Amino acid sequence: MTQDELKAAVGRAAVAYVTPGSVVGVGTGSTVNKFIDALAEARMPLAGAVSSSEQSTQRLKALGIAVLEASTVERLGVYVDGADEIDGRGFMIKGGGAALTREKIVADLAERFICIADESKQVGVLGSFPLPVEVIPMAAAQVARRFAALGGQATLRPGVLTDNGHPILDVRGLRIVDPPAMESEINQWPGVVTVGIFARHRAHTCLLGTATGVRTLVF
Ligand code: 5RP
Repeated sequence: MTQDELKAAVGRAAVAYVTPGSVVGVGTGSTVNKFIDALAEARMPLAGAVSSSEQSTQRLKALGIAVLEASTVERLGVYVDGADEIDGRGFMIKGGGAALTREKIVADLAERFICIADESKQVGVLGSFPLPVEVIPMAAAQVARRFAALGGQATLRPGVLTDNGHPILDVRGLRIVDPPAMESEINQWPGVVTVGIFARHRAHTCLLGTATGVRTLVF
């Protein structure tokens, strides 16, 4: 199976976690695109979706799925999103698609985070994938120095601004052995909008696409 087929398989599998008639939280990325396509194909009646990016909003609308403002929704049953890395406890690195802030906001509304990923995303320790951090521009150099003190090399992602109009730092060289502690620490740094460690908002379930089928990991 190609990576694209694995993504399609987990996208289809995630539809089973969506309650007909509900509002579903929708993440961002190539795997989520497969989920959106599968939702539309299943013709499931939905009250709508809360989207984590302009990109997903456009795709949802094009397929006839209503998109609701997050501010009008108090609680979601499930949030379905991909990951750049996921460890054995459901902790993730996210933000490869620069949507991390809205992803964390929508994940925070949800009872359950359903992560959909192909098996290349599964890791023992987070950190091989460069950690995305959305920052306020005037703090970028200051935040980069703080990462250097932790052994990380932060570089601005060229030509990218988030849907919120901010730049992204990608931090290489970190080995994130205690994701909740590192997330809490970085959250204290002035100028950090969102760090791409999803520990507090970890996955509850991961649908992992493997050569032998979709594995369900429950954390
Ligand atoms: C976007 C994300 C994505 O979930 C992550 O980058 C995975 O994307 P893909 O499914 O394309 O591999 O965090 O900000």
